[in-house]
Amino acid sequence: MTSPTWTPESWRSKPIRQAPAYPDGVVLAAAEDGLRRSPPLVFAGETRELKASLARVATGEAFLLQGGDCAESFDAFSADSIRDSFKVLLQMAVALTFGGACPVVKVGRVAGQFAKPRSEAMETVGNRALPSYRGDIINGHAFDEVARVPDPKRMFKAYSQSASTLNLLRAFAQGGFADLQRLHQWNLGFVATSPQGLRYERLAQRIDEALAFMAACGISSDTVASLGQTAFYTSHEALLLPYEEALTRVDSLTGDWYNCSTHMPWIGERTRQLDGAHVEFCRGIKNPVGVKIGSTVTPDELLALIDALSPENEPGRLTLIVRMGADKIGAALPQLVRAVAREGRSVVWSSDPMHGNTMKAASGYKTRRFDRILAEVRNFFDIHRAEGSHAGGIHVEMTGLDVTECTGGGQAISEEGLGERYHTQCDPRLNGSQALELAFLLAEELKAERDMRRSALPAVAD
Ligand code: TRP
Ligand code: MN
Repeated sequence: MTSPTWTPESWRSKPIRQAPAYPDGVVLAAAEDGLRRSPPLVFAGETRELKASLARVATGEAFLLQGGDCAESFDAFSADSIRDSFKVLLQMAVALTFGGACPVVKVGRVAGQFAKPRSEAMETVGNRALPSYRGDIINGHAFDEVARVPDPKRMFKAYSQSASTLNLLRAFAQGGFADLQRLHQWNLGFVATSPQGLRYERLAQRIDEALAFMAACGISSDTVASLGQTAFYTSHEALLLPYEEALTRVDSLTGDWYNCSTHMPWIGERTRQLDGAHVEFCRGIKNPVGVKIGSTVTPDELLALIDALSPENEPGRLTLIVRMGADKIGAALPQLVRAVAREGRSVVWSSDPMHGNTMKAASGYKTRRFDRILAEVRNFFDIHRAEGSHAGGIHVEMTGLDVTECTGGGQAISEEGLGERYHTQCDPRLNGSQALELAFLLAEELKAERDMRRSALPAVAD
């Protein structure tokens, strides 16, 4: 199966899926070389902190919130949209931390989420067939011959956009913007007027009261740093391996290899073959890693994948991101959860309720029904409650923009209304109001899980 010796380039000798056909190997090698000489985007120490936080998720003491665009794009790049998505993530985190009384590990699908797996190598419009769009890091979205040629130089633009995105997010997370005293300011205009926004405002008032009480007791962001800032991490699908390899570095402290393009890379459902290039690459880096799991995986396949990616069974190392669909998860997930528990493997179980619930509206738009998304999340929690394991996290495609890409939710977006503000380059995202609605549901589920565990504890005699 996997060869004993791993190097950052050992994936090159394995079968690979979803790799772009770059026309010129010399140009590609030059781009890789340039990236190899560029500074890392994240530090190994940060990824170790994230791994430690995820270890707490694995043992049921925390919850993972992972979200962002399906695909980042060069055109839609703006400080405002980064800020607005960050605001919604903070709102979701507040709802979960308060409602679920549970620490939340915050991870963006951001600062590197540029490459997209495609089911068809070619896209046909009318009688013209061109290579499929594979994300801005590879080729252009426009349906024209030149744009669709994979261009290695795009990796530099993705790198530089990732660097400035990360710089802004670090400033937001640590420079005062994420101070809990500012929680009213995270309610975006269009969200604030929605039922979810009003619910958030009520929650914010209760937290304000609690903060005022604590401030009177001498505890505020002036005296306790953690109230005034938050740890925010990045993640993306490690699909384009030349890019990932070029940013993989030895940590001078430990001598271990880390992928320094992101804190938490994940492997997609289409590229998780046990003997394939993507599993080979990810098994050797020390970052916490994720892998997407669809409804067709068998318990034995899953266990083999876990052994390949987490041979030391280190808590926090591996997150299983379940993306099965609301109607399939009930039949597929329980046996997997049981097998993992039986074999004593430590994983984070996270739910991606987006990708198994994608459909085409009559109008032709790719969309997702919000009630199906919620149904998958509810099923996910029900299954974990029944199995006595921890529903550890959520992985969503969302944005702070007021888009109309998924139907339903508090704003009751209809199929006919999808065209109004349908802006995604790839999959339909939850807008701020839908994302917040989901967070409130999650908070209730978390609270139920906690209450159940409490009541299962033996009563303490006094
Ligand atoms: N540092 C804590 C945490 O990240 C508390 C906190 C500060 C927080 N700002 C926040 C929580 C914003 C949620 C959202 O959990
Ligand atoms: Mn997607």
